[in-house]
Amino acid sequence: MPIQSWFPTSVYLENLQKEGLQKFNRELLEQCYLVRDTDEEGQDWSASHYIHGYTSYGSITDLHRRFPHFEELAQKIDRHVRKFARHLDMDLEEGRLEMTSCWINIMPTNTAHSSHLHPLSVLSGTYYVSVPKGASSIKFEDPRLSQMMAAPPKLSSAKLRNQLFISMEPKAGQVALWESWLRHEVPPNASREDRISVSFNYR
Ligand code: NI
Repeated sequence: MPIQSWFPTSVYLENLQKEGLQKFNRELLEQCYLVRDTDEEGQDWSASHYIHGYTSYGSITDLHRRFPHFEELAQKIDRHVRKFARHLDMDLEEGRLEMTSCWINIMPTNTAHSSHLHPLSVLSGTYYVSVPKGASSIKFEDPRLSQMMAAPPKLSSAKLRNQLFISMEPKAGQVALWESWLRHEVPPNASREDRISVSFNYR
């Protein structure tokens, strides 16, 4: 076909590491609950901002500077971020991307996270600690959607790359990365178990 496809939107998804992932992840899961159970400020914040669930977004967003397990996680994610930034041909001059915030999300049944972007950051992402069967995916929106004035809807059989919304189903132990301007949401968790993740920003 005499057609080129330009301006791609890239999303990265990869296992955090090749070996010892289960053990690392199990310990991190325990840490997530430990932080939740001791973070009263976060529990209060979540009660009004994160219905049924817990997030440290309103209380502790520097987990990687406070607790060794999260510091280790950040170091592991750094490697993936460098790879992704190279793929995107980002010119960072002499600088480097650094994790600026890191927080926990524990989503029990029916907890959702509405559509949003991550302003003031370059790359954002999530490490998946626990994704039980039937738990929500993460849904990305075509960043050009707000500019589509007379564009018709897409066929139900549209190729993945032409769809306006794409749902990704990460597994526990995987790290997902995207550029911070890419709008995304997490639909309600339909599983009876907690969906647990650690989200972060880089700048
Ligand atoms: Ni987000």
